Amino acid sequence: MDFLLALGLLGGAFAAPAPCTPIDRGAFDMPLQWTPYGFATNTISVGTPAQSMDSFVDWTWIGQYVFTPRCHGDLSRTSECLQPDQMLFDQRESRTFVNQSHLYPDRHWNPNHFYFHDDLSIGFGSDMLRVGNTKSRVTLQMADMRFKLDSAYPFGGVYGLSPVFAGYDNASTQSPFYQTWRQGGYPEPITSFQYCYNSTFGNPVPDRSRCNDNDGLQTLGGLSPALTELGDTEAQEAILWYDNIFFPLVNDVDFEYDPPLYNYWATRVTKHLIGDEEQTLNKTYGGNPAAIWDHASYGRGLPMSVNSYHRLIHLTEAQPIILDEVDKPNNGNQSFASVDCSRVDSFPSVKFQFEGHDHVWEVIPQNYVDRISPANASEPVCVLNVRTLADGDFVIGNFGDTFAKDKVVLFDFEEMKVGLADMPGLN
Ligand SMILES: *[C@@H]1O[C@H](CO)[C@@H](O)[C@H](O)[C@H]1NC(C)=O
Ligand SMILES: *[C@@H]1O[C@H](CO)[C@@H](O)[C@H](O)[C@H]1NC(C)=O
Ligand SMILES: *[C@@H]1O[C@H](CO)[C@@H](O)[C@H](O)[C@H]1NC(C)=O
Ligand SMILES: *[C@@H]1O[C@H](CO)[C@@H](O)[C@H](O)[C@H]1NC(C)=O
Ligand SMILES: *[C@@H]1O[C@H](CO)[C@@H](O)[C@H](O)[C@H]1NC(C)=O
Ligand SMILES: *[C@@H]1O[C@H](CO)[C@@H](O)[C@H](O)[C@H]1NC(C)=O
Repeated sequence: MDFLLALGLLGGAFAAPAPCTPIDRGAFDMPLQWTPYGFATNTISVGTPAQSMDSFVDWTWIGQYVFTPRCHGDLSRTSECLQPDQMLFDQRESRTFVNQSHLYPDRHWNPNHFYFHDDLSIGFGSDMLRVGNTKSRVTLQMADMRFKLDSAYPFGGVYGLSPVFAGYDNASTQSPFYQTWRQGGYPEPITSFQYCYNSTFGNPVPDRSRCNDNDGLQTLGGLSPALTELGDTEAQEAILWYDNIFFPLVNDVDFEYDPPLYNYWATRVTKHLIGDEEQTLNKTYGGNPAAIWDHASYGRGLPMSVNSYHRLIHLTEAQPIILDEVDKPNNGNQSFASVDCSRVDSFPSVKFQFEGHDHVWEVIPQNYVDRISPANASEPVCVLNVRTLADGDFVIGNFGDTFAKDKVVLFDFEEMKVGLADMPGLN
């Protein structure tokens, strides 16, 4: 790979010294590329001189994670853990790096949603993080790998956007966006996502030019361009804001971590419908169910309960289908079902209402059915791209790529609210 070459070339370009004052106070429309893992960006670098840090952009991670040479606690054992072409941040090459192990002890999670039953271990350090044109000093989660990765990831780190809960954990180590905003690096404590996906059934989609020819934009410090184009008043009218909730079940049936993590963007689900038919909600777990906002691979697929999925299978006359791993539309644990491609337009929308507003949000069938081409099939097959969690009735779901297709999803780190708007200019 040419990542290492890129490191060398970028080193000089970004070497201008920048003190702790962030430069550029504007919002940044961070470009996103779709990958099978989720969305990634190539606009981040760390250290002085700057080292490229292509990052996975993750609404459900609590900091800026970076691969480092450290392996089994030792900076000289890198090759025992990482592949030679793994992009990483080498703290020994940065003159602005500050080791923070005296401030924050190393942390270890097992299980975790990065490496599952292998340890996720990190130490802490701070350095200059440049995201687009904004530069600030940020505390980083510095990987200390504890096993050998069998391939290189197509990125060197994770840009986490989890909410920062008051009095829980230490805010100074959390989301790099939050840390930079607190230093004055962004005009607003808001991040906003818009998606320029491809149409599967000829339904109207946002033109890629609206995402500057990217698969999506994660705007840092303001509203997505699709909203700002409307003008202030109309943009504010287009957004419904929902209170963020604390939902501990997330750590048992969704993202299991030990020690537990609870920082998620989450809203309460007050209604779940297929067409006009209301589906039962499971309220036995501390009230109404939760929508967990996550546009990475765990948010792919329409979130439904086991029971509402069965109902949708029935209503669409879907047939069981066994898919090879590469053909599966999402990484959920449920089985898949195929439908008649020519009937998709006649299927019901799947709908949700969230606590705080009466508005019902729709996912149209053209967005929850995927067309795939299995190796052994002579023609494309249409499958329901549904991802279930837990058992029985709806208790929790990950709302991500599939739900977000024709919407804008916003998070306000100061007010602790999740915002939703229909993507302007569709239909
Ligand atoms: C976070 O950690 C820093 C450094 O150890 C410390 O000064 C600060 O008081 C901590 N804040 C909280 C809320 O624990
Ligand atoms: C910080 O310093 C300690 C003690 O020298 C060392 O063990 C650790 O690897 C360093 N951490 C990082 C992230 O470089
Ligand atoms: C849409 O199609 C284009 C061209 O094939 C591709 O580059 C892009 O990654 C696709 N977008 C998504 C979100 O899959
Ligand atoms: C393709 O393979 C899957 C199992 O891998 C099987 O269930 C399916 O029937 C096969 N389809 C055809 C058309 O042979
Ligand atoms: C996956 O689904 C199967 C069948 O529904 C169930 O028995 C199993 O416990 C599930 N596994 C996980 C990890 O949820
Ligand atoms: C409701 O959720 C709880 C907690 O996950 C679970 O134990 C129970 O089986 C669920 N009940 C139904 C009817 O879905």
